[in-house]
Amino acid sequence: KIQEVNKFIEIHTEAARFYFSNLLGTKNPGYEYLKKRGLSDKIIKKFGLGYSLNSWNSLMNYLIAKGYDKTDLVRCGLVTHKTETNKYFDRFRNRVMFPIFNYNGKVIGFGGRVLDDSLPKYLNSPETMVFNKRLNLYGLNISKKSIKDDTLILVEGYMDLISLYQNNIENVVATLGTALTIEQARLIRRFAKNVIISYDSDQAGQNATLRAIDILLQADIKVKILNLKDCKDPDDFIKKYGFEGYKKAIEQSDYYIKYKIDILRKKYDLNNDSQKMSFIEESTLMLKKLKSPIEKDLYAKYLSDLTNISIESIRANIGIKVNSNY
Ligand code: CTP
Ligand code: MN
Ligand code: MN
Ligand code: MN
Ligand code: MN
Repeated sequence: KIQEVNKFIEIHTEAARFYFSNLLGTKNPGYEYLKKRGLSDKIIKKFGLGYSLNSWNSLMNYLIAKGYDKTDLVRCGLVTHKTETNKYFDRFRNRVMFPIFNYNGKVIGFGGRVLDDSLPKYLNSPETMVFNKRLNLYGLNISKKSIKDDTLILVEGYMDLISLYQNNIENVVATLGTALTIEQARLIRRFAKNVIISYDSDQAGQNATLRAIDILLQADIKVKILNLKDCKDPDDFIKKYGFEGYKKAIEQSDYYIKYKIDILRKKYDLNNDSQKMSFIEESTLMLKKLKSPIEKDLYAKYLSDLTNISIESIRANIGIKVNSNY
């Protein structure tokens, strides 16, 4: 088994080298795409980005010539076998390639992006003996060397991470579009006690943020949320506002409770008494669950300011003992 694992990693490493070398051709469409996205040669090399040729068998032929078995290439998910026709072809064709490393820096899979807006935008390696999506985080092999303030930033995508990295925000990991798992949260916790979630600003990103908050808390991680303002994702943000802008957004990121209260608040019309009461009920239910009395009090104050309800009433609702000296 361990020999199989090593062989699979070797195959993935050879494939990554092949994809990388494909970028070097003149007028290579993959290279041109990465340039159009603003990536430097240095960063392309750092992340080992590449290009899968617009051909059916170039990777397969290359690896077979190197002595690897066709069946192993299929088991690695790099080659697809159509049983009906008994045809073999490369899984990734005409895509910009992102090698996925485990946190020890071994290539275990790939993500491939189309060069235009055809679908699917990203195609990833399937689950294999070496690639288990639940257990891995993109970029951790690199960012673990740059953890600052015991903090990691969590983003959705390859491009978000690489673009932040190029702009000197280096303590970043990405979940690769899947929902964050408890295993990934525990892996993060081995490297950092604090996480700033910086998912996309669309509805999907917001929903994913709410789920990630709960999972990170379960792994005993302190959670804050970064606000991307008018930008759709961290890649867009850093292109528009630069390092200084993102840095400022990190500093201004909200503690997760405030983020959740602010989302809840948008669901209610606070000028309507019964809706206002529902909002307070729901929010205080959330505050009740907090362990720290200081946190409770801090957000009781926030809630009081939002609603113009006395802090004493809110405290009473949360179950903070109200001073009774009479
Ligand atoms: N993703 C995926 N398969 C898809 C779409 C997305 O695996 N069909 C994953 C990718 O890891 C992607 C992440 O989810 O990086 C976030 O998706 P999205 O926001 O749509 O892509 P971006 O990372 O913003 O990519 P780009 O900027 O290149 O459009
Ligand atoms: Mn997304
Ligand atoms: Mn998205
Ligand atoms: Mn995005
Ligand atoms: Mn994007």
